[in-house]
Amino acid sequence: MEKESSWDILYQIDKELVLLEQTAALLEWDEETQMPPDGIDGRSEQISLLKGYIHDLKSSAEMGAALSAIEEGKLAVTDAQRALIRIYRKEYDDAVKVPKSLILQLSDAESKGQNAWVFARKNNNFKEFEPYLEKIIELKRVYADTVGYIDHPYNALLNHYEPGMTVARIDALFTPLKHEVVSLMDKIRACETIDDSFLYKKYPKEKQDRFGREILHDMGFDFQRAQMCEAVHPFTTTVGADDVRITTRYDEPSVSSPLFSTIHEGGHGLYELGASNSKTRGTALGEGVSMAIHESQSRLWENIIGRSDAFWTHYFPIFKRLFPEQLEGISKESFVRGVNKVESSFIRVNADEVTYNLHIIMRYELEKQLIEGSLAVKDLPEAWNTLSEEYLGIIPDGPQNGVLQDIHWSAGLIGYFPTYALGNLYGAQIYHELVKQVPETVTQFSEGNLNDASLWLNREVYLKGSIYTPEDLLKMITGQELDSSYFIEYLWSKYKAIYKW
Ligand code: CO
Repeated sequence: MEKESSWDILYQIDKELVLLEQTAALLEWDEETQMPPDGIDGRSEQISLLKGYIHDLKSSAEMGAALSAIEEGKLAVTDAQRALIRIYRKEYDDAVKVPKSLILQLSDAESKGQNAWVFARKNNNFKEFEPYLEKIIELKRVYADTVGYIDHPYNALLNHYEPGMTVARIDALFTPLKHEVVSLMDKIRACETIDDSFLYKKYPKEKQDRFGREILHDMGFDFQRAQMCEAVHPFTTTVGADDVRITTRYDEPSVSSPLFSTIHEGGHGLYELGASNSKTRGTALGEGVSMAIHESQSRLWENIIGRSDAFWTHYFPIFKRLFPEQLEGISKESFVRGVNKVESSFIRVNADEVTYNLHIIMRYELEKQLIEGSLAVKDLPEAWNTLSEEYLGIIPDGPQNGVLQDIHWSAGLIGYFPTYALGNLYGAQIYHELVKQVPETVTQFSEGNLNDASLWLNREVYLKGSIYTPEDLLKMITGQELDSSYFIEYLWSKYKAIYKW
């Protein structure tokens, strides 16, 4: 009797937590898309209140007792039950270990940090941000010590975004990636540069939107359960078991930015839609399992599929019919080369698929050193410029285009950056398996059939939600551990064809 009721208690808490988190997500989505500027103070209070409830519930005595009773009685029988215990045991332990005073100090430092960052960035002056970042780093180190870690304090932060991932694993994955991408860049720099000026002409927004929606539809994006609207930053969020929101923005200099960001967020959206299914809906299992696996799905759709030659064999004629003037004299081949142009640049979010990895690796190396204490915040701009020159071959003209460009550190998102590049690695390895199992995949893309690939991904990745850990999921799909060679091989063979050497 008692044992059964432990599950009832856990299921009830899980349900309430999911509803609270979706409600907070809806408030945040509204803040980014609809809210008038002066709504911010009230909105911050509303979200803080919900986050407080979420923290209290996760660290509640009922939660602790239910978890212990289930673990002691070995009552987790199915994969789904074991997954719920895995997720909530970690959340509970972290929540009870971290005193509320530290959470409040962190959120205070982050909100002041973000504010200081906005002005420091505007004034192109790192000194204005320095004391705030020092405080954030200091508190993050306290946090790592408080929740505990093995080998490296950064592991405690990383675990928050990518459960099970470690500094040792990332170093082993990123080291060959870095060397290969640097030598690929040398090769590309020696080639003739690609003309992509046609992407910077004026493309009316309504037609871009229509085209983006057609691709989303072909990807299997279900507009009965999901919707897209405009926002300042492209993102995806889940606000209900059958309600996924994605955003895009059209006021970009290049037509390729909104186009590929729509496909990117569409990939995140498909994952969230598939993850919430008859087995998982309304529970913590009904969502993507980690940041890196999530990013693997968005990048797989955006870059591996969306920027491929086969994809544009079908879509380029359609795109050209919509924009005949802008694309006059442009062939499919020059279009594909244009949207795959590689060039070192200062800003990460505008970086191409190749140099993007170097942007991430340098941020990872710097934040790891900040957390281990081998790099002082005051020396960060110098260290940034040194790595930028070493990896990208360019030195930013000021902190605005360098160390101050990203919001992450000011918002306390430390340990988050590596998940973007890990997503590339996961995506390439999963795609390799898809083509191995379904050899006609590329031909299907050239015929405008995205659905078969979408169904395969749904079955192998999306439907599993958060039931399996990222590593176990990858092993189930590919039979192997994460290995950077799939992505490296993909880059070399793709860019050899694009740059024709
Ligand atoms: Co993404």
